[in-house]
Amino acid sequence: MKIKNICCIGAGYVGGPTMAVIAQKCPKVKVTVVDINEQRIQFWNDPDVNKIPIYEPGLAEIVKEVRGRNLFFSTDVEKAIDESDMIFISVNTPTKTYGIGKGMAADLKWIELCARQIAEVSKSDKIVIEKSTLPVRTAAALKDILDSTGNGVKFQILSNPEFLAEGTAVEDLRNPDRVLVGGDIETEEGREAMDALVDIYASWVPREKILTTNVWSSELSKLTANAFLAQRVSSINAISELCEKTEADVNEVAKAVGMDSRVGPKFLKASVGFGGSCFQKDILNLVYIARSFNLKEVADYWEQVIIMNNHQKRRFAANMVRAMHNTVADKKIVILGWAFKKDTNDTRESAAIYVADYLLNEQAKIIVYDPKVTEEQIYSDLDYLGSRSGNANRQAVTVVNDPVQACEEAHAVAVLTEWDEFKNLNWKMVYDKMLKPAFLFDGRRLLKKENIEGFNFYSLGSVN
Ligand code: NAD
Ligand code: UGA
Repeated sequence: MKIKNICCIGAGYVGGPTMAVIAQKCPKVKVTVVDINEQRIQFWNDPDVNKIPIYEPGLAEIVKEVRGRNLFFSTDVEKAIDESDMIFISVNTPTKTYGIGKGMAADLKWIELCARQIAEVSKSDKIVIEKSTLPVRTAAALKDILDSTGNGVKFQILSNPEFLAEGTAVEDLRNPDRVLVGGDIETEEGREAMDALVDIYASWVPREKILTTNVWSSELSKLTANAFLAQRVSSINAISELCEKTEADVNEVAKAVGMDSRVGPKFLKASVGFGGSCFQKDILNLVYIARSFNLKEVADYWEQVIIMNNHQKRRFAANMVRAMHNTVADKKIVILGWAFKKDTNDTRESAAIYVADYLLNEQAKIIVYDPKVTEEQIYSDLDYLGSRSGNANRQAVTVVNDPVQACEEAHAVAVLTEWDEFKNLNWKMVYDKMLKPAFLFDGRRLLKKENIEGFNFYSLGSVN
């Protein structure tokens, strides 16, 4: 089966970069990315590639090369579905905010809408691919919808979860650890569909890195991979608190532990807490699924990863207040970094939001600087929490473009995202501008004590 036309529903952090790389690596395949969000599509089509809606190192260059050649962005979802042989569903699957499973289960309403639209529009057979992260057994629901049209059109459903991390999306897509393709391995049609997708990836990924499994293993592997990664962060964060009581240093402990080849060195960086749109939502989803099968111990085990993460964010903010003589009311606190990690403009579930909210509850005045996050996004993140009414967030929080200037007469600075530029900030000038004693809280273990003089310095996971 030779694929000529690919459609991807959802032009977000996954759909956009993934399709850009497929289009670049498969120049003979026409790739159309569609979205119902007109503004997002407008940005993807902006003549100035630097205005594309997602910041990822290397992405603008690829879009410049392939957009208009074999990569297209459109709001005409029906046309793109109709013309394609292969459809990726890459829409959002956030935690439910209502009804059964509220606060735990994944909200599948956008997935179901896509399935119904594909069923309605399709006049020829298609391969439908779950690219979004989904609860195990979602493919059964998709199959039920797609097989109920009665018009003779046949669909093959594959699971092809995405493992890219934001900030390194392009590199992860170009050189993935593995690509996972789950499908109906029992039938000839199922295997053909899997082969068609494997062929697309094989244009640039070595075949031995392309793993094929049954569809349920593929769906569950994605949730499990995120749970394992988040668990490592919560594990080292738990140890960071113990380090602060015992004069051990969490970086030294992480290094010593990570040098064991059975453990490995990655994902052992203590932080103010993991953020991002997926770790929390995917673990909550896993917990929900386990509970729905009455697997109490399994559910409780994974839930602890989230409990630890929430504790880490709270205790970091509480430590700030304690260090500053138990009051931050009316004090000026500069937050450096709002994104959930460096090299992305994504702020979803960023620890900075929760630390700021805690400090605002203590009536601090907050100044925020982030090199890639907009002012509107910062206010929208705080407003979304619903902790304050009216324009209270706008009154208490100022967003600035110059991090050093921001520190004029500040009581404290907190580094909450590990942007490289914070390492090389003119810390001497920052210190000179601040009120004394000048407090500096490093939630990312980014700064070395020898490079910052004079500050009352608090670095997560060690005694200072
Ligand atoms: P996103 O919110 O950035 O993008 C999703 C897009 O889908 C939005 O632009 C939305 O308008 C669009 N959409 C929703 N319903 C639609 C419909 N019916 N028709 C057309 N467009 C529709 O989300 P994302 O970060 O790209 O994540 C998408 C999925 O991929 C999620 O399931 C997520 O868990 C998973 N995932 C995300 C990442 C990541 O790094 N962000 C990595 C791996 C997997
Ligand atoms: C994560 C996974 O790494 C991807 O494989 C997965 O595809 C993606 O989720 C997803 O499903 O959405 P992402 O959230 O983009 O990717 O970024 P990570 O690098 O995993 O970082 C997540 C959070 O953990 C960040 O806040 C980061 O600062 C934090 N982190 C990470 C640490 O605090 N310490 C570490 O050692 C590593």
